[in-house]
Formats: sequence, structure tokens, C-alpha cells
Amino acid sequence: MRLTLRFLVPLVVALGLFAYAAVPLVDALTTRWFVRDLDIRSNLIANTVEEPLEEMIRTGQPARISAFFQRLTTDERLYAVGLCLSADGMPIATGAYPSELRCGALRAYSTAGDHLLRTPKGVVHVAVRKIDGVAPDSAELVLVHDMSFIERRSEETRRYLFYFFAALTLSVALITVVIAQLSWRGWVAGLRALLRGEGILRPSSNTAPELKPIARDVQALLRELEHQFRPTDETQQRWTQDTLRAVLRGEMRGNDIIIVSNREPYIHVKTADGIKVQHPASGLVTALEPVMRACSGTWIAHGSGSADRETVDKADRVAVPPDAPAYRLRRLWLSEREIAGYYEGFANEGLWPLCHIAHVRPTFRADDWEQYQAVNRKFADAVVQEATSDDPVVLVQDYHFALLPRLIRERLPKATIITFWHIPWPNAEAFAICPWRVELLDGLLGSDIMGFHTQFHVNNFLECVDRFLEARIDRETFTVVAQGFRTAVHRYPISIEWPPAALAHVRPIDEARENARVRHGLPRGHRLGIGVDRLDYTKGIIERCNAVARLMEREPQWVGRFTFIQIAAPSRGTIGDYRNYADRVHERVDEINARFPNAAHPPLILLHEHHEPDAVYEYLRAADVCMVSSLHDGMNLVAKEFIAAHDDDSGVLILSQFAGASRELPEALIVNPYDAEQCAQALALALAMPAEEKRARMRLMRNIIREFNVYRWAGRMLLDAAAMHQRKRFRDRVETQLPG
Ligand code: F6P
Repeated sequence: MRLTLRFLVPLVVALGLFAYAAVPLVDALTTRWFVRDLDIRSNLIANTVEEPLEEMIRTGQPARISAFFQRLTTDERLYAVGLCLSADGMPIATGAYPSELRCGALRAYSTAGDHLLRTPKGVVHVAVRKIDGVAPDSAELVLVHDMSFIERRSEETRRYLFYFFAALTLSVALITVVIAQLSWRGWVAGLRALLRGEGILRPSSNTAPELKPIARDVQALLRELEHQFRPTDETQQRWTQDTLRAVLRGEMRGNDIIIVSNREPYIHVKTADGIKVQHPASGLVTALEPVMRACSGTWIAHGSGSADRETVDKADRVAVPPDAPAYRLRRLWLSEREIAGYYEGFANEGLWPLCHIAHVRPTFRADDWEQYQAVNRKFADAVVQEATSDDPVVLVQDYHFALLPRLIRERLPKATIITFWHIPWPNAEAFAICPWRVELLDGLLGSDIMGFHTQFHVNNFLECVDRFLEARIDRETFTVVAQGFRTAVHRYPISIEWPPAALAHVRPIDEARENARVRHGLPRGHRLGIGVDRLDYTKGIIERCNAVARLMEREPQWVGRFTFIQIAAPSRGTIGDYRNYADRVHERVDEINARFPNAAHPPLILLHEHHEPDAVYEYLRAADVCMVSSLHDGMNLVAKEFIAAHDDDSGVLILSQFAGASRELPEALIVNPYDAEQCAQALALALAMPAEEKRARMRLMRNIIREFNVYRWAGRMLLDAAAMHQRKRFRDRVETQLPG
């Protein structure tokens, strides 16, 4: 508004001045026109009356002349007429004839021109014309026209001009205000959109054309700032979906991202009520799904659900998440033979026990190896099909795809391949057991980046490369050069999204507690423990049950007052070791519960069934204590989910020293799961811990997970891959320029 006024005030002043200057000009102009008209008119009258007048002069009839003049002045404009027959004295004239116009004073009026005379009655126009042909001296005819109408007209003109300029000023002002307001609004909306990032991050057709140069400047500035500040600020900055997107767009030049994993993030299953979507119990999926929601792209995985084939399009793709699609899931179909050999056999009976110290012997069969190779080739084909450029960013996940990085590298040499090994990596002695150890290492070294959860696993991997391959290892930068190709081997502890999406719609903690108690028939005030795992022999579920039993024996006041709920998601049930383990867990739970026959409520509740993430979150929120007692675990995200679920800073986490998470969460009660006494003591400590101490520990752990969330995990790997590419470009340039 102020801006509009600043424009309007000068406009009004300028138009006013213009009007003020225009009036006299217009006045003078119109007067000149009228005088010229009157001159012409006077000539006309003089010519017309000349003949009769000569006649009357010659016959000497002054009375007739007077009467003749009287008739002439009936014309409303002709004010007076006079006739001078001598050089001096008053002429023969009509009554209104001005006394100033004596016969001797007419010389000044005898030629054509502006002969105006101001008389007491007003301004008059005087024209003097000779009447020739009357001797001895010619007579002079004086025609006096009334000019008062000019003043009246001038007055009117002034009034009209005033109204005209006033109307003009008003119209210009109005139009200016309206246009200014409309443009202003458009600009403000456009600038706001730019500030929100629309049209800055990606060129948008909605950006107003006049704002496009600004948008381009801001884009350039942002890119520059991103570049300048990343190296110094990266460790302090908070990682979000947007930060990750910016890294992809900036460092990876917006390349399409492709994730490959065996397990799919959404499983369509047939149920009695129709097709339902299931979320698998998988740490890998928990971590990567939010990353994919942030980055879009394609996730390639084995389609394992009973209704998976019915829900894909002709190219075996389906948009997910089903309720708000953000990326594509490309499903690959595996035959029973492939599943048995690649997944159950080589991956889960061979590599899984090889990498975990859980005292289950790995089994390696030649036929399983065949299938493992064939399925890795199948996934490589799918990556090539799904890639929309020759340099996609491919994130290869886990031990199911050790050969895939090399296979992709052969077909897409310019791809950025980041491989993450979600489980532990064994030491060289243990790894030597595998008959195809060289092939596995060689396959993995097709990656630009090879990631593990802990430095310990990085070191084990480098030791294996050193022992079994021809390669150059740089232990300062943790890089391996094999067959002329460089792979960085680094530690990237995986995490969860922050804040977890599930928290947006779960019940408040008190309600969750009440719900869990009512569901299991437990009284108010009853204390709850929770464990959430796939039913897997690496998870230390039996050790956990033993710890609960020892707690009841050591501190009987908890009998009937504390129950540990174990959620055990069915897993890999076609494998003998898993079936045996499930049986043993069931037996141990029954046996321990039977040991306390008088307890009003059982020490252990085993829920051996699939739970959807929301239900899991509710149990985590309901529990006073969570126990993660893995015998060996890459990271274990349940520990982090328990911390995220307790947004009231309550709850105590008991965490195995053999889970990768224990390196990041020292504020948990760290235990050796093989030591039942220590674990029982930790349970007792957790149940008796003062609220203040719980809060202090929980806050520290929540801060860690907030900062080191899954966006940072993915972002760090992408940044490192981008930096490697850049260094490679510099190295290549130097090598071509320097001799030798
Ligand atoms: O976290 C280890 C892991 O093997 C994941 O890689 C996998 O998604 C998860 O356990 C579940 O195993 P599966 O996919 O065999 O059910």
C-alpha cells in the first residue's frame, strides 16, 4: 500500500501541474481562433454593406444610415456599428458604440489583427474597413463585435479541463492501484513459492517468467552453498528426507536410484478377506523403506507373496507404498529350485551361519552355489532393465547378492554401486571355510563402496581380502584396489528414520500399556518386558528366557508381577535349523512357566506370529524394559525402535554386547547374553531403576538416534561415492598428464 501511495502522490501532483499550465494555453489559443473568425466576419459584413452604404453616403441620408446600422446590430454578436465621414469627431453610430472609438483614433484598428478593446461593458473586437468610392476622403466603417462570450467560454473550458484532468487522474490512479496490487500479489506468491523451494530445486513450469532469472540465481547460489558448507557442516547438520534428496540431486546429479534386496518391502498375500498387504519383519526393510520413500526410484526384490503376481503390471512392477505411492517395486519371480538353492541353501544355510558366531555349522553345497550364481545373474539382468541411464546409483543389499556388484559393473561400468552387508563379517579363519570365498570377495569388489555396521567387520573384510585375493590395500584410507578398480571399505552404522512414521498414529504410552495388559489379562501395575525378533537362532531368545527365569529365582518379588512378552516372527521355516530352534524356544518357554506354577501371571508369553509394524510399536511403547540379547548381530534395529517408541523418555534397554547397536548406545545396560546371571541382574536393575536415571539414559540415546538416523546413513554413503568419483577423475587427469 505504501509503495502504491509513493507512486500515486507524484502522479496526482504532475497531472495537477499539467492542468494548471494547460488552461492559459488553451485560453490563448481559443481567443486567437475567435479573433480570426471575427476578422473574417467583419470583412464579410463590410463587403456586404459597402454598396448600399456608398449609395446612402452619396445621397447624404444620415438618418437612413442610422436605421440601416440599427438593423445590422440585431445580430446578437455585432455589438455596435459606426461610420466616420470626417477625420475627427464622433461617427454616425448605433447607441452602444464605445466613446473611445472617435473618428480620429481609428488608425490602430484599420488593419486585420487582434484589435481588442476593453470597455466598461466588457471586451469588444474592433474592425475598421474603408468604404471606397465616396470622395473626397474615403469613409471608414467601424464594426464592433461583442467578445464577452469568449470569457464565458474560457470559464467553461477551464471547468471542463478541471473535470477532465480530475477524471483522468482518478482513472490512472485506479488502474495503477489495481495493476500494482495484481502484480504485487503475483510476485509475492511467486517469491513465496521460490522461498518454499518450488521451482528452485527443479525448474518448474509454474514459476512466473519474470521470476525465472531469480530462480536460476537462487539455484546456483544454493548449489554453491551446498558445496561450500558440506565438508565443514556435514557432521553437525541434521539429516532429513530433504537433506538426502538434496545429496542425490546435487552430488549424484539426480540419477535414478535402484535398490536390490532379496526381501521386498511390501508383500501382497491372499487372505480369507481378500488380498492384504504385509510388512515383513526385516531390519533391512525397516531401514531402507524410508530412504526409498525419500529418493523414489526402483526397488528390485524377490516377489514372495501369495498374491504378488496378481498385483503387478505387465512389467512386474507395482507402485508403493500402496496408500501413497512414492517409488516402484519391481518383483522378480524365483522357481522353487532357485529359492531352495540360492535363498535357503547358500544364503541361509551357508553364509548366514558362516557370518554369525551362533554355533550352527555352515553348509555349502555345489548345487546351492549354482543357484546362487544364477539368481545373482537374474538380478543383474533386472538392474540393467530398470536402469534409465548408463550411470545409475545401485544400492546392493546384503549377503544374498555377493556376486551382483561385479556382474553389474561388467554391464554398466559407469554405475555407482554401493553394497551394504547387513550382517557381521567373519574373521579370515572362519571365512576360509567357504569353498567360494575368492569368488565372493571378487564379486563384492565390483562395488565403489562396501559398507559394514562396525569397524570390526571392516577390518575382518580387509583381512580376508589380504589373505585370499591379489589386491592392494590402503589401511589409512580403507580402500582396496583389485583388478585396477578401487573400492572403499567403510563403516556406516545403519539406523531408523527419525521421527519414525509409526509414531504419528500410535496410541499414547499410557493407553498402549493399558491395552497390552488388558489383552493378556494382566492387572494394573503389572510390569512388562518386551523382545521382538525373527525366530532366529542368532537372536538369543532362549538366553533371554533363561535370564527371566533367573530373575524370578533371584528376586521372587517379581513372580506374578513381571511378565516378559516375546514377539517371535516366523522366519525361514523351511530350514531344519530354524524349525529345531523354534521347537526349542517353545519348549523352554513352557518349561520356565511351569517352574512357577503358583504365579498369578506367567513370567513369559511367547507370541509366535507375524505382527504388523504398528502393533510392534505399541508393544514397544507399553514395555518398561526391552531386551535385545542377540548372540551375534550386525546392528539390531529393534533396539533403536524401542528408544524411538519411548518419546516420554521412559523405558530401559538391555542390549547384547554382540549386537552392532551396543557400539552406539553405551547408555543401555550392556550385557553378555551367555551370562544368565548378569542378564537377570540387568533385568532387576531395569525394573528398579529410578525414573530420573531412566530419563537421563533415554535422552542421550534418543539424541544419538535422532542425529545418526537412516538418512545420514544413506547420505554418507552417497557423498563418499560422489567424492570417490571426483577423486578418480582427478587421478585420471594427473596420470594422463604426468610421464611414467
Ligand atoms: O538383518 C538381516 C536380515 O537378513 C535382513 O537382511 C533380512 O531382510 C532379514 O534379516 C530378514 O530375513 P529374511 O529376509 O530371510 O526373512
